[in-house]
Amino acid sequence: MNKITTYKEKSNQFKSIFFFLSFLLFQSVGIAQNEEATVDTTQKVETEQAKEAETIEATAGGEDLILQGEKLFKANCKACHSIGDNKVVGPGLKGINEKREKEWLIKWITNSGELIASGDADAQAIFDEYNNVPMPPQAVSVEDIDAILAYIKTPPVSQQDVATPTEEVTVEEDSSTMLYVLIGLIIILGGLLFFINKSRVSIAKQVAAKEGTPFNGPISLLDALKFTISNNKGFVAAVVIVLFFGGLVDLMDGAFTIGVHQGYKPEQPIKFSHKIHAGDDKIDCNYCHSSARHSKTSGIPSLNVCMNCHKFIDGSHGKTFVYNGEEYSMEEEIQKIYKHLDYDPKTQKYGDNPTPVKWIKVHNLPDHVYYSHSQHVTAGKQKCQTCHGPVEEMDVLEQYSPLTMKWCIECHQETKVATEGNGYYEDMHSRMTDEYKEKVLGDGKLTVDEIGGWECAKCHY
Ligand code: HEC
Ligand code: HEC
Ligand code: HEC
Ligand code: HEC
Ligand code: HEC
Ligand code: HEC
Repeated sequence: MNKITTYKEKSNQFKSIFFFLSFLLFQSVGIAQNEEATVDTTQKVETEQAKEAETIEATAGGEDLILQGEKLFKANCKACHSIGDNKVVGPGLKGINEKREKEWLIKWITNSGELIASGDADAQAIFDEYNNVPMPPQAVSVEDIDAILAYIKTPPVSQQDVATPTEEVTVEEDSSTMLYVLIGLIIILGGLLFFINKSRVSIAKQVAAKEGTPFNGPISLLDALKFTISNNKGFVAAVVIVLFFGGLVDLMDGAFTIGVHQGYKPEQPIKFSHKIHAGDDKIDCNYCHSSARHSKTSGIPSLNVCMNCHKFIDGSHGKTFVYNGEEYSMEEEIQKIYKHLDYDPKTQKYGDNPTPVKWIKVHNLPDHVYYSHSQHVTAGKQKCQTCHGPVEEMDVLEQYSPLTMKWCIECHQETKVATEGNGYYEDMHSRMTDEYKEKVLGDGKLTVDEIGGWECAKCHY
C-alpha cells in the first residue's frame, strides 16, 4: 500500500502532463477544422476584389470611344466573336481594321447576306470558309461600328481575360498544409509522451531503489495510461462526458447542414456544357443569364436564345463531346433542342407543339430567404465566379458555395461596398454626420454589414 502511494505521488505530475497534452491535441484538431472552414471564403473574396479594383483602374484611363465600343461589342458581337485570334462562331477579329476596308466592314456588319449576294469575292470567301454559316444582320449604326472597330484595335488593358480564378490552388494548398501541421503535431506529441513515460519509469525506479523497495508501477505507455485512468476515475469520466457532448455538438452541426447541397451536380435533360460555351467559346454569362444584372433572379435562357447559334451549329459533322466523364454525340443533343421547339431543320420552320425543357434547378434557397442578383452583380459589383465558382470549367454545373446563412453573413462582414463612382453612396456619405462617419468608416472601409447587410429583415421575408 505504502509503495503504491509513493509511486502515486511521483506519477501525479506526469498525469497532469498527460491530460494537458491530450487536451492540446484535441484543441489543435478543433482549431485546424475551423481554420479550414474560414480560409476558403475570405481568400477568394479578397482576390476577387483585388481583381475588381484592377479592372476599374485600368478602364478609368481609357477613351470614351473605346469604352463605348466595348459595350457595343459585348452586347452585339461577343457571343460569336473574340477580339483575339480564336474562333467562336465567327472568326476572331484581331487585325480586322488592317484586313478589310472600312466601307466593306460597314456593309458586311449591317447586312452580310447582301454583300455576299452582290458577288463581293472577299465576302463569298469568308462565307464559304465558315461552312455557309451566315452572320445575322446587326442593328448597329455607322457610329457604333466606328466605336466597335476602335475597341477591337486597342482594347483596354483589363481585357486580358480575368475570368479564370487561379486562386483556388492556393486555397487547397492551405487546407493541406493544415493537415500536415496536424499530422506533425500528432507525431511530436506522441514522441513527447513516449519520452516523458521513459523518464518517469527511470525516475520511479531510482526512487524505489533509494527507498529500498521493488518498483512495481506500470512500465509501458499503455499500462501507464491504464494506471492513470484507474486512479482518476472521476476526472476521466468528466473528460469522457465532455468529449461525448462535444461529439453530440458535431452531430447537431451535421444535422444543420442536412439542407446544405454544396457540390450538388444533377445531370441535365440536355447535356449542356458550361465548359464548352462559357469556357472554350467564351460566351459571356450575361448573354444567356441576361436578367442577372437588373432583376432578382438570373433565370435560365429560353431555347430561342440557343437557336441564335444552333440554327447554324447542328452538330451534323459527327463531333462528340465529353459530359460528366462520358462521350456523347453533339448532333443527338442538339436535336433535342429542335424537338422541344418543334423545329424542322430541313424546312427551317417551327411547328405548333413546342414543349419546355425541364432543367433541374441546382440552387435552391429556402422560401423565407430574400436574395437578389442585381443587388450583388450590379450594385455590389460581385463577379459570378465569386459565388458560383469556376463555372467556365464545369461541364455539369454544380453548386459551388454552401448557401448557408453563415456564408452570406461572413461575406457581408468582409466585403467592402463598391462606393467609388456610385452616386448613391457618394450622396449618402456627404450627408452623414461626422460622428456617424467616424463610427462606420473609422476602420477605413465600409463593409456590407455596416449598411444593413446583417439586418434579419433584409434577408428574411
Ligand atoms: C450569331 C453570330 C454572330 C454575331 C452575333 C456576329 N457575327 Fe460577325 N460573323 C459571324 C460568322 C459566322 C462569320 C463568318 C462569315 C459568315 O458569316 O459568312 C462572321 C464574320 C464577321 C466578319 C468578317 C471577318 C473577316 O475575316 O472578314 C466581321 C468583320 C464580323 N463578323 C463582325 C461582326 C461584328 C462587328 C458583330 C457585332 C456588331 C458581329 N460580327 C456579330 C457570326 C456572327
Ligand atoms: C449559352 C448559354 C449559357 C451561358 C453562356 C452561360 N450559361 Fe449558365 N446556364 C445555362 C443553361 C441552359 C442552364 C441550365 C442547365 C444547367 O444547369 O446546366 C444554366 C445554369 C446555370 C446555373 C445554375 C442554375 C440553377 O439551376 O441553379 C448557374 C449558376 C449558371 N448557369 C451560371 C453561369 C455563369 C456564371 C456563366 C458564365 C461564366 C454562365 N452560366 C454562362 C446557359 C448558359
Ligand atoms: C453564341 C452561340 C451559342 C449559343 C447561344 C448556344 N450555343 Fe450551344 N454550342 C455553341 C458552340 C460554338 C458549340 C460547339 C460546337 C462545336 O464544337 O462544333 C456548342 C455546342 C453545344 C452542345 C454540344 C456540346 C455541349 O455543350 O454539350 C450542346 C448540347 C449545346 N451547344 C446546347 C446549347 C443550348 C441548350 C443552348 C441554349 C441554352 C446553347 N447551346 C446556346 C454555340 C452556342
Ligand atoms: C461574395 C460576397 C457576398 C455574398 C456571398 C452574399 N452577399 Fe449579399 N451583398 C454583398 C455586397 C457587396 C452587397 C452590397 C451591395 C450594394 O452595394 O448595395 C450585398 C448586399 C446584400 C443585401 C442588401 C443589403 C442592404 O442593406 O441593402 C441583401 C439583402 C443581401 N446582400 C442578401 C444576401 C443573401 C441572402 C446572401 C446569401 C444567400 C448574400 N447576400 C450573400 C456581398 C455578398
Ligand atoms: C453574391 C453571390 C452571387 C453572385 C455574385 C451571383 N450569384 Fe447566381 N445565385 C446566387 C444564389 C444565392 C442563388 C440561389 C438563388 C435562389 O435559390 O433563390 C443563385 C442562383 C443563380 C441561378 C439560378 C436561377 C436563379 O436566378 O435563381 C443562376 C442561373 C445564376 N445564379 C447565375 C448567376 C450569374 C450569371 C451571375 C453573374 C452575372 C451570378 N449568378 C452571380 C448567388 C450569386
Ligand atoms: C445576409 C442574409 C441574412 C441575414 C442578414 C440573416 N439571415 Fe437568417 N438565413 C439566411 C439564409 C440564406 C438562410 C438559409 C440557410 C440554409 O438554408 O441553410 C437563413 C436561415 C435562417 C433560419 C432558419 C434556420 C436555418 O438554419 O435554416 C433562421 C431561424 C434565421 N435565418 C434567422 C435569422 C435572424 C434572427 C437574423 C437576424 C439576426 C437573420 N437570420 C439574418 C440569410 C440571412
